Amino acid sequence: MTTSSAPGKIILFGEHAVVYGRPALAVPVTQVHADAEVLDSARAGIWLQAPDIDLHAELHSLPSGHPIAAVIHSLFFLRRISPFPSLEITIRSTIPVASGLGSGAAVSVALTRALASHLNVSMTDEEVNAFVYEIEKIHHGTPSGIDNTVVTYSKPVYFTSGKPIETFTVGYPFTVVIGDTGIPAPTKQAVSDVRHLWMDNRSYWETIFDKIGIISFTARRAIEAGHWEVLGELMNENHEFLQEMKVSSLELDRLVKAALSAGALGAKMSGGGRGGNMIALVNAETAEAVTRSMREAGAKNVILTQVGQSDI
Ligand code: PMV
Repeated sequence: MTTSSAPGKIILFGEHAVVYGRPALAVPVTQVHADAEVLDSARAGIWLQAPDIDLHAELHSLPSGHPIAAVIHSLFFLRRISPFPSLEITIRSTIPVASGLGSGAAVSVALTRALASHLNVSMTDEEVNAFVYEIEKIHHGTPSGIDNTVVTYSKPVYFTSGKPIETFTVGYPFTVVIGDTGIPAPTKQAVSDVRHLWMDNRSYWETIFDKIGIISFTARRAIEAGHWEVLGELMNENHEFLQEMKVSSLELDRLVKAALSAGALGAKMSGGGRGGNMIALVNAETAEAVTRSMREAGAKNVILTQVGQSDI
């Protein structure tokens, strides 16, 4: 039996602008994860169990565009695995689906690694990352590649599309509260709406994207130096730009406000927007009050995550 696990992720800075070539920052969230298990089967076929999404099926009964089927078909095609072996595959995930926590990328990474290792196919992190990026395109259309990158490497990433991957060290761990609106986040739709804004007034939005790129750059320095006040202020600024892009929502704004009024150093929506998650920067004194305030303001789920704890 072969198993593999991959973490969730959150984008700290630079979502949407990253689609236009500006840098963004994302970190793994190890409290939630996707796990894949592969073993040889006594019965013929590739049998899939994913109880969280109520999937119990043989591979060939799934449409080829199904994200899990796509991983298996693409990997076997790419690595010329033929005939298909008989396998039992189980996938479990504690990552909320469609909430900006990278559940799709995590399932793909965990499944790819478990399959590759079970079938003695060697794959470097670079190869896993490039492969899962192709799978992400099935979900998202034109993803920047940030999700698959942070999930594959399971390290904080300073990501610029088309540039070499820069993982970085968090100088001093810090705490982020993730608040889930409980509303599904339609990343593809939000990305497409921003593209329409951009097409209507390119020079204006290019300037905004530049400013967001500078925020991501400055935030990386603030994280490396442990300058939390600066980091919090940068989150607030980034959120305002996302509001201007119309990818925030009443519910996200309400949670952001609730976090700030309870003493968070900064707060912003995270990911594609419209729904999904927001994040707030807290310290030991404010964590509890911010968490409570976010729950009272309607957060359906709250995760407290230490950024940098496991990577230093
Ligand atoms: O919704 P998420 O967490 O998958 O993030 C989407 C991030 C965007 O910048 C909006 C799109 C992308 O592909 O980078």
